[in-house]
Amino acid sequence: MEISKSKEWHDLQLHYENTHNVKMRDMFDADMYRFEEFSIVHDDFLFDFSKNRLTSETIGLLVKLAEKAGLQAKIDKMFAGKKINTTEQRAVLHTALRNFSDEPVKTDGVNVMPGIRAVREHIKNFVDAVRSGAWLGVTGKRITDVVNIGIGGSDLGPAMASTALKHFSGNLLNVHYVSNVDSTDILDTLENLNPETTLFVIASKTFTTQETLTNAKTAKKWFMSRIAHIEKDMTNHFVALSTNEKACVEFGISPNNMFHFWDWVGGRYSMWSAIGLSVALYVGYENFEEMLKGAFEADEHFRSAHFRENIPVLMALISVWYNNFFGAASQAVIAYDQNLLKFTEYLQQLDMESLGKSVTLSGEKLAINSGQIIWGTIGTNAQHSFFQLLHQGTRLVPADFIATIKNNDPESDHKAILLSNFFAQTEALMRGKTEEEALHELRSEMKEEAEILKLLPHKVFEGNKPTNTILINELTPKSLGKLIAFYEHKVFTEGAIWDINPFDQWGVELGKQLAKRILPELAADCRVHSHDSSTNGLINYSKTKRYSI
Ligand code: F6P
Repeated sequence: MEISKSKEWHDLQLHYENTHNVKMRDMFDADMYRFEEFSIVHDDFLFDFSKNRLTSETIGLLVKLAEKAGLQAKIDKMFAGKKINTTEQRAVLHTALRNFSDEPVKTDGVNVMPGIRAVREHIKNFVDAVRSGAWLGVTGKRITDVVNIGIGGSDLGPAMASTALKHFSGNLLNVHYVSNVDSTDILDTLENLNPETTLFVIASKTFTTQETLTNAKTAKKWFMSRIAHIEKDMTNHFVALSTNEKACVEFGISPNNMFHFWDWVGGRYSMWSAIGLSVALYVGYENFEEMLKGAFEADEHFRSAHFRENIPVLMALISVWYNNFFGAASQAVIAYDQNLLKFTEYLQQLDMESLGKSVTLSGEKLAINSGQIIWGTIGTNAQHSFFQLLHQGTRLVPADFIATIKNNDPESDHKAILLSNFFAQTEALMRGKTEEEALHELRSEMKEEAEILKLLPHKVFEGNKPTNTILINELTPKSLGKLIAFYEHKVFTEGAIWDINPFDQWGVELGKQLAKRILPELAADCRVHSHDSSTNGLINYSKTKRYSI
């Protein structure tokens, strides 16, 4: 039975109808312990969900919904290596990649942990060799630059983590991420690089992705034409991260320079695997392992904490509450930390590629909405671009606010200014400004009553806009790992409630198929008639202009 037909869903619907107009500011005024009741401290994390349109009863009903959906059994199945990715007949074991217990983790009766440890060892030895200068280029020079070529999950997670952990890099190596098939991306990157000191990391689970292979070929051509005489000269300059050994070898990368992973690691969940190699090269193996350990802590919490005290479960339930009952179509994520510049972009793939589904696991059309649109950027920049809509727009946009407390620049007041804005925004979104308050303020500033009344409606803030706050003591490899894993499990929980598969991505295939058909048509010296009139028209127009612009 679809979850929206359940008694638990119906109870939540009734609860919504009875409570959706309740004002958060009234709830705060009535209960001085609201923050204590609706916040959780987990080591170096504080998760405050008190600025939400919910009560203890709401949480109770949402927890019942999670129980109805069989969440605990689904969590246990994932960690136990069951083939929960049913449309691809695969287990889902990214959690095993960051498992530091002595317990075996089995899928198909085989313990995957020895293989994982062997790849970790391979990564460690390689990273240590490159960073120490023991690994030299073909002309005997040290590697100074790493170019990660990958896309989607083979790019976004590692690129985000490298940006976030810049201060842990020790400035030993520069790391560059190339993803787009638009040649500007790779050519701009290569422009300032020396082939003698450059290492290419070709990151592709399948090693068939068009963008990655095209960029990898361009990199190989660039390298070969500058310093190489034979393919063997590539040996210390090209490594591959993949599950597809045959394709890597065909490309010219020796199996010794391949870092393996497995089909039970989903692309957008793969930064914990060999796909994280560029992060490890950049920040060192120990820091990379710390990131895995942070994620492992999040895993332990997710597996064992009661749903009422379980951070990712609560994040998911709150998200379901606004999505399915208040009809919120999107969710903003705003990190007040420059190092988290790429966090929302990374989260877009994690969340939307996982939850953008419209059928249940058994293939029935969903009667309710699934994944929301995830968007946002860093604060305070966001305040000067889209916050107007959050504060006074007509749409409900629940938002996650993330900040780190430690001040890395104690001599200046930047951090205090940043955090004052951070705290002010969630307060403003929650409280708003009533007509009475706005009137009082205007009268203290202006004399002309007619002018005051004209301006008044524009000065009112409805408030009651929900936010979660995640406060992290300090951005470290460990806390970053934990933050990412919390979001992974939030996504898992939503998928479990809607009974969809958050581990496949068939929706990306159709566009790929059509692009394959169009590619030779672009090269052919004739007009195209095989598509709808718009697509034909666009292709033909571009063909006529291509040579004349
Ligand atoms: O966009 C589709 C997708 O399959 C993602 O899920 C994946 O992360 C990305 O392409 C890259 O795939 P690969 O690592 O196989 O090159």
